[in-house]
Amino acid sequence: MLLLGLGVSALHLTALAAASPLSKRWNERSVKHAWETIPKGFEYHAPAPADYTFDLRLGLAQPHLETLISKLYEVSTPNHASYGQHLSKGEMSELTRPHDDTLPLVQDWFDYHGIDMSNMKKSAATNFVTVYNVTIAQAEKLLGTKYNVYRHTQTGDNVVRTMSYSLPTDLFGHVDVVAPTTYFGTTRAMRATSFLQPEADEKNANIDVESAATCGSRVTPSCLQSLYSTAGYTPSADTTSVLGVAGYLDEYANEEDLTTFLGKYLPDASNATFETVQVNDGGNDQNDPGVEANLDIQYTVSLSYPIPNVYYSTGGSPPFDEDSNTPTNTNEPYLDWLNYILDQDSIPQTFTTSYGDDEQSVPQDYAEAVCNLLAQLGTRGASIMFSSGDFGVGGGDCVNNDGSNDIAFQPIFPATCPYVTAVGGTTGVSPETAVDFSGGGFSRYFARPDYQADAVSGYLDFLGDTNQGLYNESGRGFPDVAAQGSGFQVVIGGVTNSVGGTSASSPTVAGIVALLNDYKISNGESPLGFLNPLIYSTAVDGFNDITSGNNPGCDTDGFEATTGWDPVTGLGTPDFAKLQALV
Ligand SMILES: *[C@@H]1O[C@H](CO)[C@@H](O)[C@H](O)[C@H]1NC(C)=O
Ligand SMILES: *[C@@H]1O[C@H](CO)[C@@H](O)[C@H](O)[C@H]1NC(C)=O
Ligand SMILES: *[C@@H]1O[C@H](CO)[C@@H](O)[C@H](O)[C@H]1NC(C)=O
Repeated sequence: MLLLGLGVSALHLTALAAASPLSKRWNERSVKHAWETIPKGFEYHAPAPADYTFDLRLGLAQPHLETLISKLYEVSTPNHASYGQHLSKGEMSELTRPHDDTLPLVQDWFDYHGIDMSNMKKSAATNFVTVYNVTIAQAEKLLGTKYNVYRHTQTGDNVVRTMSYSLPTDLFGHVDVVAPTTYFGTTRAMRATSFLQPEADEKNANIDVESAATCGSRVTPSCLQSLYSTAGYTPSADTTSVLGVAGYLDEYANEEDLTTFLGKYLPDASNATFETVQVNDGGNDQNDPGVEANLDIQYTVSLSYPIPNVYYSTGGSPPFDEDSNTPTNTNEPYLDWLNYILDQDSIPQTFTTSYGDDEQSVPQDYAEAVCNLLAQLGTRGASIMFSSGDFGVGGGDCVNNDGSNDIAFQPIFPATCPYVTAVGGTTGVSPETAVDFSGGGFSRYFARPDYQADAVSGYLDFLGDTNQGLYNESGRGFPDVAAQGSGFQVVIGGVTNSVGGTSASSPTVAGIVALLNDYKISNGESPLGFLNPLIYSTAVDGFNDITSGNNPGCDTDGFEATTGWDPVTGLGTPDFAKLQALV
């Protein structure tokens, strides 16, 4: 496929200023990102040892970013001439290619500081380069900063991070983000949006065909199949569709627990398995089943059966250990996973991720870099679901970390990235209502995308003055859709537990989207890819509108669900049969 517009650079890059003395050039710096205060949950521990090494990742500016985003919308918008014409890895690399001047400039900058860049790896598919084994002392000179060891007060884990970093002024147009620097979110601090609930009533267990009504008391694959009308669909055995589950936090999906779960709740699928792919030294300890991992895989496998499922166990641990000589791990799970997956020639058509951070705890340059990688994944043809969070409009004290101490709703990233489909939670049946922990609201980093302009302005009219000043009315509204989020039966270490969270909702929607993608592929069509332009337009009637409930937080009642889109349940919960007819 020919890509248009590649010859024209969207950025005005600083020309090589050969006359300026090198020392001046690389020492003239401006701050790229700085925190006012140490991110919540961490405390200063010690200076970072000068001779420790880590891998430095640079996100290079993409002169063709605008073309890439236009391309994402073209291939994702029904009725567009290019709808469904997703890009291959090779085609994508054309759009993520840095400006010709960028790598030579970066090379000069490293040379000036005497840092060996020969063991540098440029991703073939994305705009990232990794420079291996940089010492703390070298990184401090490079970035005009001081690295310290910060300790997570609850877990005691140490991370090596900095409160701010700078780039030479000449590189501002060339380097978007450097990591690790100011993104503290460790694998632990990154919230797994699930929690254990008291053991549910077991007396009705061992029934593999359950009515939708059962979902009102405890959620099983079979009641979800009834509630969201997937029961009548049999995926074709020989399509190429795959469902991918992204896992972090040393969470391992257990094979034996899946078999026990299926035997109990969906015997017809009891032979189903999944594959574990270990990314960035991610583990797979089958003696240590994770609540989140088991929840995710048990519901994606059962709802999408017999579509193959892949569980990605992404490392990011161990955290910095001052008593060991091993190099510090960069601990940047989103970047590691996205760079890995985008480097594959063929990728699953459907993904779900049940993790998130308070948006304000993620530096904006970092959040934008991750969000742009998610845009690449959508352009490659993937439908990407993320949990919307478990604390309504905000957990904790909701204090802004910009030094103002203002109170504001705290949206969850990556759910706020406009290029993913954020999934909120519901509970009960007839009527299905918003569950009170369902994360939702408006981004303070990302502007409202066109696809939801009408839906969101309709809600803002309904809202009037309520919550004014606590949210950003020009921000991207989330979630986009919702699904049941409470009382999920999950087998963990052989024992059935009841688990809740939008962590449960996202895999549920992903299971249903995987069926839709299978349906498209088995008809010889393209998979759905990035869903939002479709679901806010021609497929909007494929959702059960949720019109009651609210998502309290920050000492407020939060937002109210109502007719049409709302920042509690989005467009509503999926009706597979209706969606199948609309896509
Ligand atoms: C980085 O350092 C480690 C440990 O010293 C070594 O094993 C590894 O080969 C180095 N990597 C590169 C790319 O030089
Ligand atoms: C599972 O596999 C076994 C052995 O291959 C087979 O006998 C059985 O029918 C399968 N069960 C289902 C539900 O497919
Ligand atoms: C609101 O969102 C816009 C668009 O992303 C952003 O530019 C602005 O800074 C945000 N305002 C606040 C107060 O967060």
